[in-house]
Amino acid sequence: MANTPDEQVVRTQLHGKVLLVTVDNPPVNALGAAVRRGLADAMERAETDAAVAAVLIVGAGKSFIAGADIREFGLPPQPPLLTDVCKRIEASKKPVVAAIHGAALGGGLEVAIAAHYRIAVANAKLGLPEVLLGLLPGAGGTQRAPRLVGAAAALDIMLSGRHVGAAEALKLGLIDRLAQSDDTLAEGLAYAQELLAANAGPRRSRDATGLADVEASRAAIAAARAEQGKKAKNLFSPHRIVDAVEAALDKPFDEALKFERTLFMQCLESPQRAGLIHAFFSERDVAKVPEAAAAEPRVLKSIGVVGGGTMGAGIAVSALDAGLPVTMVERDEASIARGRANVEKVYDGLVAKGRMTAEAKAKVMARFTGSTDYAAFAEVDMVIEAVFEDIEVKKAVFKELDRVCKAGAVLATNTSYLDIDAIAASIARPQDVIGLHFFSPANIMKLLEIVVPAKVSADVVATAFALAKKLKKVPVRAGVCDGFIGNRILAVYRQAADHMMEDGASPYAIDAAVRNFGYPMGPFQVSDLAGGDIGWATRKRKSATRDPQARYVQVADRICERGWFGQKTSRGWYQYPQGARTGVEDPEVLAIVDAERQRAGITPRAFTEEDIMRRYMAAMVNEGAKVVAEGIALRPLDVDVTFLYGYGFPRFRGGPMHYADTVGLPKILDDIRAFAKEDPLFWQPAPLLVQLVEEGKNFASLNKS
Ligand code: 3HC
Ligand code: NAI
Repeated sequence: MANTPDEQVVRTQLHGKVLLVTVDNPPVNALGAAVRRGLADAMERAETDAAVAAVLIVGAGKSFIAGADIREFGLPPQPPLLTDVCKRIEASKKPVVAAIHGAALGGGLEVAIAAHYRIAVANAKLGLPEVLLGLLPGAGGTQRAPRLVGAAAALDIMLSGRHVGAAEALKLGLIDRLAQSDDTLAEGLAYAQELLAANAGPRRSRDATGLADVEASRAAIAAARAEQGKKAKNLFSPHRIVDAVEAALDKPFDEALKFERTLFMQCLESPQRAGLIHAFFSERDVAKVPEAAAAEPRVLKSIGVVGGGTMGAGIAVSALDAGLPVTMVERDEASIARGRANVEKVYDGLVAKGRMTAEAKAKVMARFTGSTDYAAFAEVDMVIEAVFEDIEVKKAVFKELDRVCKAGAVLATNTSYLDIDAIAASIARPQDVIGLHFFSPANIMKLLEIVVPAKVSADVVATAFALAKKLKKVPVRAGVCDGFIGNRILAVYRQAADHMMEDGASPYAIDAAVRNFGYPMGPFQVSDLAGGDIGWATRKRKSATRDPQARYVQVADRICERGWFGQKTSRGWYQYPQGARTGVEDPEVLAIVDAERQRAGITPRAFTEEDIMRRYMAAMVNEGAKVVAEGIALRPLDVDVTFLYGYGFPRFRGGPMHYADTVGLPKILDDIRAFAKEDPLFWQPAPLLVQLVEEGKNFASLNKS
């Protein structure tokens, strides 16, 4: 039988008695319909060709197989099903070996564990991350993995979605052998030949004994169920994963496989799957911006940071973690000592927790230089300014940067709200000035808004995206306006929350509704965590320019006037007895709210959780539509990613704009128009929303480039 031609996504080639089956479907060898067909054909050849004594499955390129083709989900399924392909592999009468390098994830690992023997090179990452996409392993993974590694380990792998390294996989029994070199093909062939020489026949995972200790297995299932009940109460697929593993104990293998398939289809049809897969693709699409496509990034080998406060120190840690040398400049000796201490504190915390050695800390800190002299920035490739939020202070800093930095250095500001065009215009090289809006804590939070002023050159924008990649951040391109994408939208739905509070909903009811929607915290809890004084200062700063006709709720001011700034003062919207981090409701706050209602002449009315979330989300989506229409966000998906990574928006809902699509834009617009009857100034429908409704389109239609 002839070997298959090179252009096929699955190639077969005989090496002695071993049929080499190569999956070659760039970029990640996803198991699309053609690959599934190719694998089934290859197994057919293996079974019928007398010259074949064993089969070796490998992946071409960077990975073994990264899983099912996620782009196919939601489309009509095409035969053969992956679960049937896996069954066929397992049923082979000739031994089948999988040789793994790079990623063996989801359906990729399911193919590997349907094979009879597994060898992996040291860099291999194995996992069943379906849960992160709202799914469960649907090609036998929920049945074969527990039999191979036991219920507890399999549940951990499937419920966390984590990547398991090759060494751990060997320990767990997920693979049989760790390769001695990185040459997957040679190692795999040698293993297959060795098995043939030893007369080793097929060894099927369905017969493995990992579930033999039924009591321990049931205990693991009960523990997982209890944990998911607490941790994942809003989610669908984690609970189905536990159900599927239970079926591995209760049903014969083939029946349990059918049950797994039924559960998989339920997950596939759930809106959570659509939301999570939207998030998966969107967080990759955000980096696809015109400037990054048009220009090469500048060289970026060193970073300067101005200011060593909360943000400056966090940004410095983030850059140090990425292996970059960091130079920090502060106002005076005491401030730079504090800045250095702020950076060291982060690493000391890691050392104390045993997550870093003292030597590793010393090595990292050796890349950190503190100074009070701007001349220290003479050679750095990029400076990120994180001084006080005051345009005059920032302009003075940029004047210094203009004076000392080398030609071509990128000059970035971490401002939250200020006009970056004005900062750029204040120096002689506006083409080098960009906004890099990190979120607090900057070394932890993944979101980085890359704020693009009018005069910046494309290669500076490309450099900012390259920096984000180095720092392992999720970059979102934003335009210049008050608050950019995130804080601008936040300001609006935060006002909607204040309006509801004054109209009758308690801050605690609003927080509870927002949490039940899937956020980790409600807006009043967030304010207590961040410090009420920050918002208070902003409100005071903006009071002169506030529209006198616009509704202004004063409750937060009354709270701040008492010095109740939240957790740091043990009191804010909640009380925090003895420094507790979880607040308790405060009757005095409710009395203040009541007094403010009376002062404003408002008779409180009842709000259900649904009422609360309709207003909260309508405000968010309406402002989101304005941000997109003005080009502040390139696409609705950029708004989604901003909220997923910077504001705790529940990932399973895909982001506010995706959520709006699932609710239906006509419904959201109807709500806004109904609310506008009470407050037409606040609830002005976004023209883009109106237009989309008129055209019968959704936000997703604007994501397609
Ligand atoms: N299907 C379709 N496309 C995929 C894909 C998949 N499973 N995995 C990755 N891609 C695409 C990405 O969208 C990206 O496309 P783009 O270049 O057009 O943006 C490209 O492949 C490269 O991906 P990354 O940018 O993520 O590349 P990295 O090298 O950073 O990461 C990876 C590689 C670790 C494999 C990562 O892509 C990943 O985690 N992929 C998803 C793995 C996964 O979740 N698998 C389970 C799928 S569900 C399943 O298998 C169901 C089964 O049980 C029936
Ligand atoms: P901070 O008050 O903690 O730190 C500011 C630091 O800048 C201080 O250490 C101060 O000594 C230093 N500084 C002031 N003037 C200086 C000068 N001329 N030269 C050198 N150093 C100078 O403030 P924070 O919170 O770190 O904020 C910094 C910037 O980051 C602000 O623009 C803020 O809006 C922005 N930001 C803040 C976030 C937050 O959550 N705190 C989030 C995102 C952005």
